Amino acid sequence: MGESGRAVRLEQHDTAVSLSQTPQPIDDRAALQALLETVRPDLDAVQAALADITSSQAPYVQRLVQHVRGFGGKRLRPALVILSGRAVDDAAVGEVHARVGAVVELIHTATLVHDDILDGALIRRMRPTLHSLEGTEISVLLGDFLLASAYAEAASLEDRLASRYLSKITRLVCQGEMLQIHNRGNLDLELDAYLEIIEKKTAVLYAASCEVGARYAGGSDEVVQALHDYGMHLGIAFQIVDDVLDLTGDEEVVGKSLGTDLERCKLTLPLIHFLRSAPAADVAPVRRALEAGRGAEEAGAIRAAVVASGSVDHAMAEARRRLSEAEQLLDAVPPSPARETLAAVARYVLSRRR
Ligand code: IPE
Ligand code: IPE
Ligand code: MG
Ligand code: MG
Repeated sequence: MGESGRAVRLEQHDTAVSLSQTPQPIDDRAALQALLETVRPDLDAVQAALADITSSQAPYVQRLVQHVRGFGGKRLRPALVILSGRAVDDAAVGEVHARVGAVVELIHTATLVHDDILDGALIRRMRPTLHSLEGTEISVLLGDFLLASAYAEAASLEDRLASRYLSKITRLVCQGEMLQIHNRGNLDLELDAYLEIIEKKTAVLYAASCEVGARYAGGSDEVVQALHDYGMHLGIAFQIVDDVLDLTGDEEVVGKSLGTDLERCKLTLPLIHFLRSAPAADVAPVRRALEAGRGAEEAGAIRAAVVASGSVDHAMAEARRRLSEAEQLLDAVPPSPARETLAAVARYVLSRRR
């Protein structure tokens, strides 16, 4: 099929979201939007920066970029850049924070485009994934395009912190994804190895978002460290909740393909806990199914066993513990509306449905 054929497919999906008959996650979206209302003008500036940084003269590439940039991303990482900046000094937050927020969001979006290829995922941000529409080759290259756009933007800032620091962070994210793939099918994955994977693939970018936001606002080393650590705990909890949603969530609410962890035999906290602590009679059939590569076919039975064993509750308790540590770290930050919102973001992560 020629380029024009592909473009038509993309445009059709731009307007017709295939999940439209299903209930929209209004409550969750509204709760997050209300939470971030105080930084709405900052987030609008991030959105404008995103459009500017990724714009392409080539109409086909422009349509690809619009597809992945469009509907549905929560924009939590740029919100953390802004909120951490405002928690340090309201007056210091402006154009640079919007641009750094956009850089962080682009790094994140690029990893999602690549991650959806790796997971064979069909839905992302309520839309068909780019690779399901345009194929793997285009998706690899669009992910690269987004990363290159992010670094070009970071390098154009006068202060070199963002370009130095965020490129190192992206190296860690890639290593986290590689470690995860390397451990696919490893039913003996240790808790520490799982924590290392999620720290690298997810939490470091949360921590970095907070750190750059605070540093660009002139934060002291102590406050920057506290916000960095807050982001790290938040990010680990965010991924644990994500892993629970992958097992028990509703695809049409979450707005992305779920069940890929079982399908690809990637062990996450609920399953790691189950395999180690549930009665042998309950564990044996689940192990057999996973060893036989039948995680997707037997997902219903596996989910039921893991939930009944209390391992999902265990994972959520671990997320809750991390989030309360995150909130406590905010004690080192002077009181402000932004600090309150950071605390509320931590509570939101535990209850998020998408
Ligand atoms: C998804 O991140 C990838 C994970 C780290 C679990 P988000 O849930 O923040 O994705 P968007 O940006 O809102 O789509
Ligand atoms: C990947 O984790 C997170 C990245 C850093 C790309 P997941 O594979 O769990 O993310 P989702 O569930 O596809 O969003
Ligand atoms: Mg994935
Ligand atoms: Mg996931």
